[in-house]
Amino acid sequence: MKEAQPRTIFLKDYKKPPFLIDETVLHFDLSEQGATVKSRLSIRRNPDADTAPQDLYLDGVDLELAAIAIDGVELSGSGYELIAEGLRVIDVADNFLLECETRIKPHENTCLEGLYKSSSMFCTQCEAEGFRRITYYLDRPDVMSRFTTTIVADKNLYPILLSNGNQVERGDLDADRHFVTWEDPFRKPCYLFALVAGDLLNIDDEYTTMSGRKVALRMFVEPQNKDKCSHALNSLKASMKWDEEVYGREYDLDIFMIVAVDDFNMGAMENKGLNIFNSSCVLAKPDTATDATYQRIEAIVAHEYFHNWSGNRVTCRDWFQLSLKEGFTVFRDAEFSADMNSRTVKRIEDVNLLRTAQFAEDAGPMSHPVRPASFIEISNFYTLTIYEKGAEVVGMIYRLLGAELFRKGSDLYFERHDGQAVTTDDFVQAMQDASGKDLTQFKRWYDLAGTPVIAVDYEYDQDGQTFTLKLSQSCPSTAGDVVEKPFHIPFSFALLDNNGCNIPLIQDDDAVFANAPTELVLDFVKTEQIFTFQHIEKRPIPSLLRGFSAPVRIKNTYSRDELLFLMSNETDGFNRWDAGQKLAVEIIREVAESYAQGAELTVDQRLIEAYRGLLVSESIDKALLSKMLLLPTESYLIELSETANVDAIHHARNFVRDTVAKALKSELLKCYQDNLEAETAYSADFRSIAKRSLKNIALGLLLSIGDAEALTLAETQFATAENMTDESASLIALVNSDFIAPREAALETFYAKWKADPQVVEQWLSIQCGSVKSGSLEAVKRLMSHEAFDIKNPNKVRSVIGAFCNQNIVSFHNANGQGYAFLADNVIKLNKLNPQIASRLVTPLTRWKKFDEQRQALMQAQLKRILDEENLSKDVYEVVSKSIK
Ligand code: ARG
Ligand code: ZN
Repeated sequence: MKEAQPRTIFLKDYKKPPFLIDETVLHFDLSEQGATVKSRLSIRRNPDADTAPQDLYLDGVDLELAAIAIDGVELSGSGYELIAEGLRVIDVADNFLLECETRIKPHENTCLEGLYKSSSMFCTQCEAEGFRRITYYLDRPDVMSRFTTTIVADKNLYPILLSNGNQVERGDLDADRHFVTWEDPFRKPCYLFALVAGDLLNIDDEYTTMSGRKVALRMFVEPQNKDKCSHALNSLKASMKWDEEVYGREYDLDIFMIVAVDDFNMGAMENKGLNIFNSSCVLAKPDTATDATYQRIEAIVAHEYFHNWSGNRVTCRDWFQLSLKEGFTVFRDAEFSADMNSRTVKRIEDVNLLRTAQFAEDAGPMSHPVRPASFIEISNFYTLTIYEKGAEVVGMIYRLLGAELFRKGSDLYFERHDGQAVTTDDFVQAMQDASGKDLTQFKRWYDLAGTPVIAVDYEYDQDGQTFTLKLSQSCPSTAGDVVEKPFHIPFSFALLDNNGCNIPLIQDDDAVFANAPTELVLDFVKTEQIFTFQHIEKRPIPSLLRGFSAPVRIKNTYSRDELLFLMSNETDGFNRWDAGQKLAVEIIREVAESYAQGAELTVDQRLIEAYRGLLVSESIDKALLSKMLLLPTESYLIELSETANVDAIHHARNFVRDTVAKALKSELLKCYQDNLEAETAYSADFRSIAKRSLKNIALGLLLSIGDAEALTLAETQFATAENMTDESASLIALVNSDFIAPREAALETFYAKWKADPQVVEQWLSIQCGSVKSGSLEAVKRLMSHEAFDIKNPNKVRSVIGAFCNQNIVSFHNANGQGYAFLADNVIKLNKLNPQIASRLVTPLTRWKKFDEQRQALMQAQLKRILDEENLSKDVYEVVSKSIK
């Protein structure tokens, strides 16, 4: 018999906490055998509680209770009861001091939640519900407390002992042990608690805030990484300055610490004053980190820093409100990256992720609203919907209000709710109150899952000189929704004349022509809505949903010739890129169709000419060009399909790519040479990045058609590269080519050179496993017994299993079903070791609906096999049970 099914938690059942914890005093004794945690909690009844129970229920998981006392008196067995996932303290007073002593085993903790060991250090991850693995507590974000933390450990093994806030005391103890005490002056929920102990080096910097206070910035790393800190520290200073300038937000403690940890489930964590990062998201130097890594680090450092206001000073009332902090903070970090780099390119990258992965999530079995109504395991809801769609929702408010009113709204939000745990409704209310804009209908974005679809129809009347735009919206119904009411959609719009110039938009006949805007954000609020524009002298081309102003699917209304026109004339950079994507999608689909029918394959010459035009253009911005030369990915093409024929998509895309590369060989060679220039020193500014990117795209295209000249270029670049961007790009080009011997040689050389550097080894693994050429299932399985692999390290799991299943799509989806069985085997293995990683890894199997019947059956069979496992974690249970037909 299987154990009882895990419980579903509902937003509608939210109740205010019956008890509050004013003070939390923690004492950690760390040793190789385990850790002893003593807590002293000053607890009182919540005067505003919804209920007044006699007993106190505390959360606790995998804890050994050694002692418990109330107001200094040891509790007898009748005073408390150990229950599933917690502790019941029977019949408590209104005000009391609870003392507990618990024992935990950080060195056996493979789920990487709570307190665990990573290489030689102790560290913590408490969000969302990890604190309950440290001590018994009210582990919910609306219980905020002042923390004082003392850490005791061996002085030689753990010279550095860190926690949140300010260090207030330190000293030596007997037997080579020492202690440090930290005090955090800000009340916080326990998910923001952090502790680190290790033999770490610190790299220091300093920042002077807008009011003139000096803040110490201190990054802690293992000694071998001391030369990989400068980019993160520079990004941190830039973030601090940006948040002062753009949001008026100043940092509030005297010290800000960052720690790099090798074993980490996610990217990073915003613990108050002590951010903890996955090493791969914070460590960089030019010879080991690619441009993409440099940009990721800049974005994540900013993200975690920005949480100090959007997350820590104002936090979430409950986990259903997760997007309150995550959506807003992703919006903030995206704006920061846009300001630091190319705004258009940042938008292209974000929309690409949204349309490829979030849209797929929202069309799949785990589809949920930005504010979910229920969950089984909250860790499963750190999703693209909460983060990326959540950021789009905040972005739509920004577009509806404009920069100035949005800033008034954020000021009001921070002022009104500083020190509180609040809801997404509170956020929207502040925006509405500050701007005077009614956002009632807008709130539907938080409560409804699914991606709205917009159909566009338009008409030009030559005689009346009017242009009529008709928009209609619908949303594929998601479980539980009965009435379909329209969304409030900001629809950014312009009209282009045949020279590609914006035409003044006059909606009202009395409007003054000279003051007419040339771009509008239309309030699209009805199921069907008509907008009319006057005094349009010639037939224009409409520019729709500029900058991707809302997270919707829009049906293509353009002819191929119009798309070609837009590829060179759109005034909105995002739409210009998107026109190229739309054209390429159409053409690849046409080729895939022919492939599936066994017909002859041909590529519409217009696409080739369009790329030629881009390559020879003198005026186009290189950053934009580097994005326009990339064909839509296989994942995106699958997402756009009703039923995806993976083999046809793969072959068609390659055929189009190779046809373009052959036709444009000389232009690509010239592009390579033009962007080759010897560099003085590596710089990660976006212009240098764009040049390297163009050069390496050209190299990849030339190598994919087996060009001998390109092979020499790639081998030379590989041997002489002075930065990891160029080194790994040449390796990727070789790995994806048909030059088998050079490819194998390069992989071997690369590993021999970099095997001591885990961040580079991760790249080496994912390049191979993500490539159809080098990542056969057998090769991937062999890599799993390579010394470089470690199933307990999430980064390695992602680089091998994740890369194979998500990037090496034709191999994973091999009709023999072996890719599916391989994934299920590993999900089952990881379910015991690290449930969070297991449940993330299983995602590709949950997308079965997109594939043919045979594959659907094979995928379903593997999901059932997982569900039949004994002791399935809540994490895996929730995802798999919701994914089964
Ligand atoms: N708050 C962190 C961030 O977005 C992520 C924490 C993820 N934790 C988890 N259990 N999934 O920066
Ligand atoms: Zn975050």
